[in-house]
Amino acid sequence: MTSVDTIIRSAPGESCAPELAQGPWTFDLGTPGYGPGASMGDVIPTGSPRQGQLPAEYQRASNDELHERIRAAKATLGDRVVVLGHFYQRDEVVQHADFLGDSFQLANAAQTVPNAEAIVFCGVHFMAETADILAQPGQSVILPNLAAGCSMADMADIDSVEECWEQLTAIYGTEPDADGRVPIIPVTYMNSSAALKGFCGRNGGIVCTSSNAATVLEWAFERGQRVLFFPDQHLGRNTAKAMGVPLELMPMWNPNKPLGGNDRQGIEDARVILWHGFCSVHKRFTVAQVEQARAEHPGVRVIVHPECPMAVVDAADEAGSTDYIRKAVAAATEPTTFAIGTEINMVNRLAAEFPQHEIFCLDPVVCPCSTMYRIHPGYLAWVLEALVRGEVLNQITVSDDVAVPARVALERMLAAKP
Ligand code: 13P
Ligand code: SF4
Repeated sequence: MTSVDTIIRSAPGESCAPELAQGPWTFDLGTPGYGPGASMGDVIPTGSPRQGQLPAEYQRASNDELHERIRAAKATLGDRVVVLGHFYQRDEVVQHADFLGDSFQLANAAQTVPNAEAIVFCGVHFMAETADILAQPGQSVILPNLAAGCSMADMADIDSVEECWEQLTAIYGTEPDADGRVPIIPVTYMNSSAALKGFCGRNGGIVCTSSNAATVLEWAFERGQRVLFFPDQHLGRNTAKAMGVPLELMPMWNPNKPLGGNDRQGIEDARVILWHGFCSVHKRFTVAQVEQARAEHPGVRVIVHPECPMAVVDAADEAGSTDYIRKAVAAATEPTTFAIGTEINMVNRLAAEFPQHEIFCLDPVVCPCSTMYRIHPGYLAWVLEALVRGEVLNQITVSDDVAVPARVALERMLAAKP
């Protein structure tokens, strides 16, 4: 199997950013932004964590040497450490993961290892925060590269959401209706900061992932007349539309505009208020790509992630979370052609794993998630060898004042699971 990293390094001009062929440490010091890849054009908040310089020995080491060192460190640490890898991680990292999965599965996986002293999360910052919220006291959660954030999660910050909430509650009040439903329930996508999960916990709200968004919205509508959904407008719109909520009752809230860019009537009538956030990886998929796939591959099955824009989801045959996509491919009994609209590392891995099918990414340009791609075996070797010496580097800690209400919102989600 040829990994995305090897493809990019052998033909950097064919990717969305030739700088992807450089080591991620090139972007750790003093560079504004998320680094090369799909979200490099998004604005990075000033308070986002920055990664310091990776020691030169890890920058210089070959992949073979790094793999050797990672294996040796893991063997020494044994059950004291567990390495979690998200589906969007590069293969060079995934090969060292004890668990591979989507954000929801990895949050659960972290809970199955209560005796591990350290959970090394090869994913992005909000996933490591979630693991810390759910971890046992004394366990440390480590993010190998602190620059591995998520530009979508960064599009909703706690101050803007609090401000929005104040404006909404001034309009709706706080009194329940005759059925006992409160005026509005906040729902945050897992891809959000711990502070927003805490906000939901404190305000009768809940967390969702792309695999349970419909169940969570049903939960919310049983308890509330409306929903404020953040940060991903597309997941919110696609899910609510599939549940029959009319588009005109889903205004968007732009935090930079008065009343989010709406008039009062629009807010009063709303069923779902969608935050103005999006994923730059999934925004790359277009209806034209779906049409081209259908023209060039008659009978193709097009499956996209619900973070894609609504027109793309409507043009596809199916939409579902990373786990849904994986299961759909695995369940196909006849050789099938699949055009997949999600992150390139996962699509290429599916293609290698299921050679009986033809599987390709809807986007012809190789363009990984900028921040997922910041995790490289060099950082993994660095944090693991530090653990062997008894040092915990890059620990992600959520303070109790945030973690306690965030856990409430996460537990509501786990209980709402069908
Ligand atoms: P999952 O929730 O499917 O793991 O997706 C995470 C993500 O970042 C999607 O862009
Ligand atoms: Fe965030 Fe999109 Fe990357 Fe997922 S794929 S981590 S939502 S930027």
